[in-house]
Amino acid sequence: MKALVIAIFLLSTAAGAEDTRQSVTLPAPAQEVLRQEMLDNLVAVSEILSLMAAGKVREAGDVAESKLGRSAMGKHRDKPFEARPGPHMPPAMHGIGMDGHQAASEFAAAAKTGDRDKAMALLPNLTSACVACHFSYRTR
Ligand code: HEC
Repeated sequence: MKALVIAIFLLSTAAGAEDTRQSVTLPAPAQEVLRQEMLDNLVAVSEILSLMAAGKVREAGDVAESKLGRSAMGKHRDKPFEARPGPHMPPAMHGIGMDGHQAASEFAAAAKTGDRDKAMALLPNLTSACVACHFSYRTR
């Protein structure tokens, strides 16, 4: 995943100001749900960083699992189809999202043991999927 992010970064830098990201059109309700979810993601990342800095490693793991990890998957399942972002994404884009949930759960598993060093080593993976998706896709 890290190599992917670096490759995408180099590509985008080479392209200069031109926006070469793939444009994806989601139905308006799905886009609105996604936007809210993204703001929640941002808050979750910030919370996790603060908890790690405060030495509250297990708590950081709890937040990571519940808000970003596999436990956070499928929460739009009961919404009308046009309000569910996942099924309207190209498979590769959706896959990056799945990788992100996976990475958050791996961090969470390490953090929940209270092993700070192990959790710290996995912490950067929390934002790899955010970067990979944002550098590859846009919705407007
Ligand atoms: C699978 C792709 C994907 C992943 C993974 C992803 N995002 Fe996003 N994100 C998007 C798209 C698409 C939008 C644009 C939504 C819209 O159309 O308003 C967006 C928008 C945002 C926004 C702007 C919201 C606004 O106010 O309009 C923030 C902040 C954000 N993402 C944070 C994150 C963070 C933090 C992560 C990782 C924890 C993350 N995203 C992971 C696809 C993704």
